[in-house]
Amino acid sequence: MREAPIGVFDSGVGGLSVLAEIQRLLPNETLLYVADCGNVPYGEKTPEFIRQRCSVMAGFFQEQGAKALVLACNTATVAGVADLRRDYPDWPIVGMEPAVKPAAAATRSGVVGVLATTGTLQSAKFAALLDRFATDVQVITQPCPGLVELIENGDLHSPALRQLLSSYVAPLLAAGCDTIILGCTHYPFLKPLLRQMIPEDISLIDTGAAVARQLQRLLSARDLLAEGSAREAQFWTSSDPVHFGHILPILWKGLGVVDRFGR
Ligand code: DGL
Repeated sequence: MREAPIGVFDSGVGGLSVLAEIQRLLPNETLLYVADCGNVPYGEKTPEFIRQRCSVMAGFFQEQGAKALVLACNTATVAGVADLRRDYPDWPIVGMEPAVKPAAAATRSGVVGVLATTGTLQSAKFAALLDRFATDVQVITQPCPGLVELIENGDLHSPALRQLLSSYVAPLLAAGCDTIILGCTHYPFLKPLLRQMIPEDISLIDTGAAVARQLQRLLSARDLLAEGSAREAQFWTSSDPVHFGHILPILWKGLGVVDRFGR
C-alpha cells in the first residue's frame, strides 16, 4: 500500500502547480493526475455539477488503487470535499482553500486581496473562512473570469492576458492591499508576470506547498509514505490529449504519459 499512487485532480492544468509542490516534498511518491479540461472552468459551474465531477474523479482514483486523493482545486474543494469525506471516511483526502489565515496574520496594512474564481468567492465555505480568520482585516475579493481559459492554452504572458490580469489586480492595489492571495491553482503560473505588475513589498500567497505538507502529514500518520522510488507520473485529460501534451511541458518539468479521460 505504501507504494500505491496518489490521485490528484483539477478542472485543468492549474493543479500542476500543486503537483509540483507534492513532487518536490515527496519525490518517492508516484503521482496520477486528471485534468478535467473538458469541463473547465469549474469557477463558472454550479456546485452540484462540480460535486458530481468530484465524485467521478474519486471513483476513478479508487479504481486506480490510489492511497490518497488531493483536490488540487479551490473551487472543487469548496463545492465537493465535504461529500467526498463523507463518502470515503477512511481515505486520506486533502483539499485546499484560499490562504486567508496566513494572509491575515501577515498583512501590515490590514488590507488583504483575494484573486479566485467566482465559484470559490461565492461559496459558503469561503464566507465561513472569512468569518473565522478575517475579522480584524479588510478583505477585497476579486473574481477573475477568463484568466483560467487563457492559462489552459499555455498563455502565461500575452498582451491580452496582461491586460486582463492587470484589470483584476488594479482594484486590490487601489484599496491598499499589501498581501494578495492566489486563491486558484491556475494563478501561481502567473507569479512572474504579477511580480512585474505590483510593488516589491506586496506579498503573493498560495497554498500549494501547504497542501503538500498536509498530504505528507496524513500519509505519515497512516504509515503510508512511499519508500521505493516513484514510477513515472501519469496524466489524463477529459479534453484533447494531444493539446494537453503540448501544454504540459510549459507547466510541468517532469516526464509523464497522457491519456484520454473518458468519463
Ligand atoms: N484551478 C481551480 C481552482 O483552484 C479552478 C479553475 C476553474 O476551473 O475555474 O479554483
